[in-house]
Amino acid sequence: MNKGPLPIKQLGYVGIEATDLARWQTFAADFLGMQVLDAGSGTLHLRMDDRPFRLFVTRGERDGLACIGLEVEGASSLDKLSEQIESRQTSVQRGSQQDCLSRRVAALNWFKDPDGNRIELFHGPMPEGTAFVPNGAIGGFRTGDLGLGHVVLQTPQIGVMSDFYLKLGFRLTDFMESPIDVQFMHTNTRHHSFALLQSAEAKVHHLMIEYLHLDDIGRIYDRAQAIPDRIVSTLGRHTNDHMLSFYSQSPGGFMVETGWAGRLIDLESWQQERISSPSLWGHERKWLPEAARKAIRAEMDLLASSGTRAPVEVTNSPGFNLSRIS
Ligand SMILES: [Fe+2]
Repeated sequence: MNKGPLPIKQLGYVGIEATDLARWQTFAADFLGMQVLDAGSGTLHLRMDDRPFRLFVTRGERDGLACIGLEVEGASSLDKLSEQIESRQTSVQRGSQQDCLSRRVAALNWFKDPDGNRIELFHGPMPEGTAFVPNGAIGGFRTGDLGLGHVVLQTPQIGVMSDFYLKLGFRLTDFMESPIDVQFMHTNTRHHSFALLQSAEAKVHHLMIEYLHLDDIGRIYDRAQAIPDRIVSTLGRHTNDHMLSFYSQSPGGFMVETGWAGRLIDLESWQQERISSPSLWGHERKWLPEAARKAIRAEMDLLASSGTRAPVEVTNSPGFNLSRIS
């Protein structure tokens, strides 16, 4: 196993291209509770913590991914990783001063992955200068060194994409082969910051953001149920990262998973494994064909009949205080 330091520290930011910024403003602020700032030039900054943004939405011709920002340790790590990528016949562009300014980072280099997604490697995120204020009474997001959450990409070539991202420095956490073909990868102690799902079309499948408080998820779920066609996967708990979550349709044509209590893994002792069901219970997936839903339901019935349960492991989160339980 390839243990030792990981070259990528975290999923730093995700950029979204959108035809309708107003819909994103409403979705991010009123529904998800993010702080939304107008950054000018048709760009919204969506804040989840003290960084200038964790997501940005920029006006464009289409709805989809603009870029994925992966943070590395410093200038020498950025150079080293960029050289490694170039040695595998992928051209790497040095970000201009304007690029760095718009991303609020000290330096960035970018390249396209085999599906054509723009990936930006950066170091030195600049502070915003003003404190993060959520929109509404949200108790905050779980970010920090764990990064913004996770991003899952659909790809028509999971073998090629997986090989590319593993060589970039991600490590395989676990995987599922049937009825859906998914690979989950980590780059810090978050169970997965990145995943790939075999599919006909290359696009974002979903973005996951994690809240510090269970009750915030419950209240967002209440709001979601009042909005027609908002919920695309009901409340449930994942088998592998133990996340309690549900999925909403975003204005970007992909889903946003809102979660709580995702599991952290031990980087040295973790052994990758194959999982048979994506969820322990719930997560009725409206986006999946009926045959695949039925197969997952059968696997969940097996887990239920064997009494398979997962512990809650968020003792270092302000939203879960073990000392209050006696
Ligand atoms: Fe997810």
